[in-house]
Amino acid sequence: MLDENKTFEPLIVAFCCNWCSYAGADLAGTSRLSYPPNVKIIKVPCSCRVDPLFVLRAFGKGADGVIVCGCHPGDCHYSTGNYFTRRRFTLMFNLLDYMGIERDRMRLEWVSAAEATKFARVMNEFTETVTKLGPNRRLIDLRNLPEEFEELGKEPKREVLPPPTSHSRDIPSVAHIEEQMKARATKLLADGVVDRVLAWKAGDHETMPEPAFFDHPAQIENLVYNKYCAPNLSKYLMVAPWLGGKLFDGSTLIFLKPCDSYSFNQLIKENLVNLEKTHIIGIGCGGTVQVEELEDVGMWEKCQVCTKVSHPVGDEIIDLSDDSPRLDKNARFEMVEAIEALNADDRFAYWRSQLSKCIRCNACRNTCPVCNCKKCVFSNDKYDMASKVNSTEFEEQAFHIVRAFHVAGRCSDCGECSRVCPQDIPLHLLNRKFIKDINEFYGEYQAGHDITAPEPLTSFDLGNDGQVDINKGVRT
Ligand code: FES
Repeated sequence: MLDENKTFEPLIVAFCCNWCSYAGADLAGTSRLSYPPNVKIIKVPCSCRVDPLFVLRAFGKGADGVIVCGCHPGDCHYSTGNYFTRRRFTLMFNLLDYMGIERDRMRLEWVSAAEATKFARVMNEFTETVTKLGPNRRLIDLRNLPEEFEELGKEPKREVLPPPTSHSRDIPSVAHIEEQMKARATKLLADGVVDRVLAWKAGDHETMPEPAFFDHPAQIENLVYNKYCAPNLSKYLMVAPWLGGKLFDGSTLIFLKPCDSYSFNQLIKENLVNLEKTHIIGIGCGGTVQVEELEDVGMWEKCQVCTKVSHPVGDEIIDLSDDSPRLDKNARFEMVEAIEALNADDRFAYWRSQLSKCIRCNACRNTCPVCNCKKCVFSNDKYDMASKVNSTEFEEQAFHIVRAFHVAGRCSDCGECSRVCPQDIPLHLLNRKFIKDINEFYGEYQAGHDITAPEPLTSFDLGNDGQVDINKGVRT
């Protein structure tokens, strides 16, 4: 237990850009302005050099508060670095708040080289705020901590949310689409237009179709398309040139459901698929079904709230001609709003109860179309575990926070991360929080819809972005 009689002295980590804020700190020192010795400054070339992972690491290694300081908007030494910082940390601080991490432990401030007084004032204020909050107990690496910290992280884990509202509707038959898919695949293969086909084939059970390549017309009879074809095929084409250890140089026909075509279009935008060697057929979808113990248990949540009925990309379309009513486009944010409405303790308890189930199987990372770094920052070769280990609860949290952040603005909300999770962790609710915030702060944005649209995290809007209060996470 922490010694209650001992005055708590917080550890504050301040990331300061070299050109303004660090110079401001320097001036505060030479001007003999006082700010607490609790503040440990880390100099960075520009505020945009501060990866949100640095903030998590600082917390994980014992910081009680983290502050990022940069030049005032318009004054960045690299012209626009702090505009990216502004968007990045607005979203990141909001996500941490959504996960129940006290918002007041994080702060972003613009401090110029001449603002020694402001630097000292901000550091005094921030240290006082964090001192009142007490030690950081929620984002901490429990390894190698002194004994007095042994109680940290032992808050009870509890479920605090009701199950999501069901929006299930009838699922139309797609048998006629399967027939047309087979006919087109056979013809395109036979005519030599494509050299192989990427679709689904029957798995061990009819409820478990799996992604498959077909490279001969005679194999097409094994192609299936039904209400169980939930797997998103987008990512398979990205890795496909190397399948079997051989480079495949031919062209591929890929079938894409509407939601898959958004993630595929995002990959086109990121130059990760060779469009010239791809023939795309968009296929209609009326929703896919979740199965437990080989029994249907209703439509996947991602399909219940899906509004993606058109294909943003495709050489041909085989449509469903389904005119069943679609939901209001904001229905998908219901669960996010339910979590936002909880108090910080309950938000933390909710995410702790969920993320502590993670076994780091990496299924979420492997299936996600836009989680496609060649070397993941979380790959861990230590002990030859090949990134299949969570060393601590901190890593459980950090892995999913960083993964969600890395796909922010690129995630099309296909929901595959949650669908494949063997532990039923609703990981898509992290991605959806980012999507919701991006829509609210920077305007409606749907990843994969338009390959010419600027990405929300690598662009900025001078007129609009200043209207968002980074530290409060609201529009002013
Ligand atoms: Fe200071 Fe970019 S150089 S924020």
